[in-house]
Amino acid sequence: MSEQILAGKTCLVTGGAGGLGKAIATHFLGAGANVVICDINEERLQEASAELSSKGPLRAIKADITKVEEVQSLFDELIREFGKIDVLVNNAGIMDHFAPVGDLDVEQWERVMALNLTAPMILSKMAVRNMLEQPKPDGRIINIVSVAGRAGWAAGAAYTASKHGLVGLTKNTAAFYGNKGIRCNAMMMGAMNTNIADVFKTGMHMEGYKKMNSVYESIQAPPCDLDEVAGFCVNLTYGKGASVINGACIAIDNGWTCVVG
Ligand SMILES: NC(=O)c1ccc[n+]([C@@H]2O[C@H](COP(=O)([O-])OP(=O)(O)OC[C@H]3O[C@@H](n4cnc5c(N)ncnc54)[C@H](O)[C@@H]3O)[C@@H](O)[C@H]2O)c1
Repeated sequence: MSEQILAGKTCLVTGGAGGLGKAIATHFLGAGANVVICDINEERLQEASAELSSKGPLRAIKADITKVEEVQSLFDELIREFGKIDVLVNNAGIMDHFAPVGDLDVEQWERVMALNLTAPMILSKMAVRNMLEQPKPDGRIINIVSVAGRAGWAAGAAYTASKHGLVGLTKNTAAFYGNKGIRCNAMMMGAMNTNIADVFKTGMHMEGYKKMNSVYESIQAPPCDLDEVAGFCVNLTYGKGASVINGACIAIDNGWTCVVG
């Protein structure tokens, strides 16, 4: 059994019905946390709930986090059930179609920004306010970023800008709340086998895809194992050393960006 470093802590994982979010929720439950997952995909949410509820206190809430009123109800429900939030993982995200700016639809830009950047801002705002109300604030916010939060060739303009923006939100939150008991860090992910590629069923900008793929193939970094990544995420909350990490953007990419940054 894993160490119960999250006993008594309440953790919210957005996009927790599949992919990385579900792996993180599983590890949080294993570490003794009360876990709330939210997702827009009801079917996957029900499957995840059925699979994970035996592992610990879990609430699975359907929410489209690009809608402020749904984020507010999600938060209200979390507080009603568990009284406070200790850990927020801004995990939900969508990929774009690899389009550079000249070929980018405004609608695509806005959809990606709404989920990948505006939603984490709104969730962080609600989380920070609740964390600061606690008698001895000791909160954690973890933003799931990407190689595209650092490089220009790893995705289209919308996804790249959204993840660069999330790096900025991470650093600003860390700078302003670090001395008030809240740590905010980013996990800068390389490739993982999840459902993120579903979006390509509706099209792909081939020049953008080839640019990313030529770099990726030249490195031959294998996809990151979800179980390993989720275990690391637990440690980044309250594991040994976590209390001295704030405002970091940690490359978790099997060495992809140490070769081509
Ligand atoms: N998979 C990769 O290769 C990769 C690489 C770098 C970074 N990331 C990042 O990892 C994070 C997790 O993605 P993943 O790879 O597990 O993909 P995924 O598609 O498997 O999971 C994302 C989840 O977010 C949910 N979601 C989508 N829109 C939502 C909304 N409006 N409200 C609530 N939930 C919503 C989806 O239903 C899905 O369950 C994302 O932020 C992504 O950008 C992924």
